[in-house]
Amino acid sequence: MSNPDDCVRVAAVGDVHLDADVLGRYRPALEHLGDKADMLLLAGDLTRHGTPEEARCVAQEFGGLAVPVIAILGNHDYHSDQQDEVAKILEDAGLIVLECSGTVLGCGPLRVGVAGTKGFGGGFAGACASEFGEPEMKAFTHHGRELAERFGLALAALECDVRIALTHYSPVPETLLGEPLEIYPFLGSYQLAQAIDGAPGVGLAVHGHAHAGSERGTTPGGVPVRNVAHPVIRQAYNVYQLSAVLAPA
Ligand SMILES: [Fe+2]
Ligand SMILES: [Fe+2]
Repeated sequence: MSNPDDCVRVAAVGDVHLDADVLGRYRPALEHLGDKADMLLLAGDLTRHGTPEEARCVAQEFGGLAVPVIAILGNHDYHSDQQDEVAKILEDAGLIVLECSGTVLGCGPLRVGVAGTKGFGGGFAGACASEFGEPEMKAFTHHGRELAERFGLALAALECDVRIALTHYSPVPETLLGEPLEIYPFLGSYQLAQAIDGAPGVGLAVHGHAHAGSERGTTPGGVPVRNVAHPVIRQAYNVYQLSAVLAPA
């Protein structure tokens, strides 16, 4: 795929769930990534159980590539309560790890901004959790709201020509199609879509987590959403081509 000056090619995959047993599965397909994309986004659930040993597998698989790699962690990467160590291992391998934060990369004449968060569940319009009742319910709902709000601020603060949102949990229900309706509140939150739609000119929102979901959706504000969970896209990565979004005068 060629790269016109006014476009950026974004490769993305999530839910690779690496451990020693599947180490090496992705690497052959990544060797020529630089010919096909300008960056690689990893949409969380990079490990199976969030151990440092598994994180070193991720570092080995996705470190030292020809393009920058920007990652967020997923819920599996938190499972062993060693998420900080997991992130450090990835950063030591040269990956950029985001959590309610952003980064801007130069891509030809374009500044490409990516903000990321794990995000959290909570559900969608008409069927969502609220901060009411037991402390546990309030804590569940509050966690999602807090991450979405901080993520929205990071996304809006990017000074860039192309703005990309990277989450693990889904911002919309459309990309969950195929999952049991009963677990939608554990797969995403409308508050992530609010954060994305609240930032100016977001060109693409990428997420994972919903292994049985669908690839394509759109936020209420019209931002394209893509579920890049590996079981959904069924290849090492998808590539999306984006142009600069001109801010309204
Ligand atoms: Fe996953
Ligand atoms: Fe997940």
